[in-house]
Amino acid sequence: MDRYRSLRLSLLVAIGGAACSASPPASSGAGEGAVVAIPTSPASATAEPPPDGEPEPEKPKGIGWVTEKNGNIHRATRVTCDATIDIPACTGTEKHQSCKTDADCTEHPHGKCTSGVGQVGTYCGCTYSCETDDDCGSGKACICKGTGALRARHAVCGDASCGTDADCKGSTCGLSTYFNGCYEQVTLACRTKEDKCKSDADCGISPLGSSCVATGPRGAKPTWQCASMSCVIGRPLVVEGEVRAARPRARADWRAPLVFDVEHLAAPAREAIAAHHAAIAAMEHASIASFARFSLQLLALGAPAELLAEAQTAARDEVEHARVEYAIASRIGGRIIGPDKLPDATARLATDVVSFVESLVVEGCVGETLGAAEGQEVARAVKDEGLGAALAQIAEEEARHAALAWKTLQWALDAFGDEAREAAARAFERARAMHEKDPPKMPVENEEFGVLGARTLGALRRQALCEVVAPCVQKLGLVAWS
Ligand SMILES: [Fe+2]
Ligand SMILES: [Fe+2]
Repeated sequence: MDRYRSLRLSLLVAIGGAACSASPPASSGAGEGAVVAIPTSPASATAEPPPDGEPEPEKPKGIGWVTEKNGNIHRATRVTCDATIDIPACTGTEKHQSCKTDADCTEHPHGKCTSGVGQVGTYCGCTYSCETDDDCGSGKACICKGTGALRARHAVCGDASCGTDADCKGSTCGLSTYFNGCYEQVTLACRTKEDKCKSDADCGISPLGSSCVATGPRGAKPTWQCASMSCVIGRPLVVEGEVRAARPRARADWRAPLVFDVEHLAAPAREAIAAHHAAIAAMEHASIASFARFSLQLLALGAPAELLAEAQTAARDEVEHARVEYAIASRIGGRIIGPDKLPDATARLATDVVSFVESLVVEGCVGETLGAAEGQEVARAVKDEGLGAALAQIAEEEARHAALAWKTLQWALDAFGDEAREAAARAFERARAMHEKDPPKMPVENEEFGVLGARTLGALRRQALCEVVAPCVQKLGLVAWS
């Protein structure tokens, strides 16, 4: 079934490609490797169970990776990881091949030319593993396969502000595996007294998220804090590489008039579903700031009036999206909430072409497109008619926001040439890699009230990437995905 035909056609129309059909992208003429192919990891393309459910191997206390009673993992001493990559090798018969043998994978140590299956067919691509920190370079550590919540089928290089517990006075060097909905951040960081959480149990159903992870601005020391899936729900507010949103507080002036029956929901489920919608509401609220900042960037870069006008409309849409989501969270949670202050709204803004294009691709072209696809699924899944109609309206408007992002990218490519083109190609490649895996398991899954499961989300995002994003990428002559 061509599930996202309408969304794809509307975006292709936005960038002048109305004649394009629903067929998968054809060869660009730049050779086999230039065909736009969106690989899907074999783990997600098959019904095999994810590796994160595997039991942790027993380790002597204080040696290597140590699992604490509360589920935290820390690295007591350095270990040599198994560099085996549990992904089938390229057979040579795959439709798209960016490598043919392991000898083609030389960018990092322990490369393997692996085979996968995506929505546009089979493919081969390089996957890299590691044995020791030395394989990863400065500021990185080799995280062994199967450690904690790491979902990769091989050891991976993660950012490391500590190497072992010995680097953390009086505390431990903790492993954080945080998938924010767009990409997985694997980090080693000291736990400190200033941490906002000590384990996932401290986060529970906090509107800020259910995972205690180490995160922070790029280049700065990470801190442990509660976080949740924060990406691909419309356009995020990203400041210094971090997604920002307002905390919730009791207030009634950010609530749409939306009433639906929740009495049949058990109390624990209500709390968890309300927390999920409160997090989405905060993201929608942050999108208002994101579009305001986008408008300023457009002005700074000399964009045409049409793009400015649409950016203003999009910001107004986001006000309504936030009101609807705060109403849903309030109704289900039984407490009326709205947003607290959002000081990051006025944070310093980048106006150089490269920063602008990279964030436009990740947050707009990919983020808003997947947000629209996700919104369609959520609206289809909910049972209440009024709730479904409100969510369908949001999905429709998110599709318009996605169209605005693609139109803006087309303008930027025309206006700024190779600089913009190269930045866009890099950003699309990053976005492709982000979605190879499913997002982390949600604290609750309840389609009736708009909370899709992690596997459903992962699958629909990959499908939308293949059926919607890839044809638009090709239409713009960007062939970075291989
Ligand atoms: Fe949006
Ligand atoms: Fe939105």
